[in-house]
Amino acid sequence: MKLKSLLASIALVAVTLPSLAFASGGPEIKYVGPTASRTDIESLQRGARLFVNYCLNCHSAQYMRYNRLKDLDLTEDQIKQNLMFTTDKIGDTMKVALRPADAKEWFGAVPPDLSVMARSYTTERLAGYLRSFYADPSRDIGWNNLVSPAIGMPHVLAELSGPRKLVETVYAADGKEMKTDHDAEAKAKAAFIAANSIASFEHHVDKKDGKILNRYIVKTIASDGPGAMNAQQYDAAVADLVNFMDYMGEPHKSKRIQIGIIALFLLAFLLAASYALKKEYWRDVH
Ligand code: HEC
Repeated sequence: MKLKSLLASIALVAVTLPSLAFASGGPEIKYVGPTASRTDIESLQRGARLFVNYCLNCHSAQYMRYNRLKDLDLTEDQIKQNLMFTTDKIGDTMKVALRPADAKEWFGAVPPDLSVMARSYTTERLAGYLRSFYADPSRDIGWNNLVSPAIGMPHVLAELSGPRKLVETVYAADGKEMKTDHDAEAKAKAAFIAANSIASFEHHVDKKDGKILNRYIVKTIASDGPGAMNAQQYDAAVADLVNFMDYMGEPHKSKRIQIGIIALFLLAFLLAASYALKKEYWRDVH
């Protein structure tokens, strides 16, 4: 019984630790949201469709060939009719029509190639990025992003998600409900942990009239009007899109894992066979 409760508390600490580890520097971001399975072909197909419709206008995926989409149970005709907009050659890679110089002028930055973005950015962060755009009238492009602040990319999926706004709550010692900085921090952390969508936690230190002012800020994203999808549908669509981008970053991942398992079985078989052989050879010696 004792061991059981000890194990339970270790497990609890292991589960809660990541969310309680606050960085002292920049904002702490919490990613929550659905994910899609790598073996779910329909999810990958939906993701591919979103990707070619909404991302290839500005980004390329120069290591991805259209005919590779046949791995996703799509026929050449389906690919040509529904997914190819930038070329008519099925063997082509996913190029972009936008000229880098124009991109620099319009967005202030050249959109990076997305072939292996899921690997460098991680799927969790990528999904968080796509779910955390919000309207920001102070910026030229009209949008900002919680995961990548001041990014040059607009919210290209806005017609699906609908408009989104930033919700910012500031916690600071007020001598009443939050007597000390410590109270304010604890309250802010509790709100951050309770948030069931993407959220960020920031600690600001300002100097006012020679006094140090600590402020703890929790930011979340909220819907600001209807879109073509509701919040759950949008999050699921982002999961599909990220699933496809993960596939694109390493198309043979599932196969690699399969081959690994087969190889282990083969090695186990060889081990058993050589052991049997050894026994057979040595039988006459003893
Ligand atoms: C209207 C053009 C445009 C479209 C369409 C677009 N992007 Fe971008 N994207 C940009 C630009 C410009 C940047 C570089 C911004 C910068 O570095 O400030 C960027 C950057 C990114 C980054 C890197 C972010 C970072 O933190 O550095 C990712 C990831 C990304 N885009 C994903 C996507 C995905 C996925 C889609 C499709 C849903 C998409 N983009 C569609 C313009 C676009």
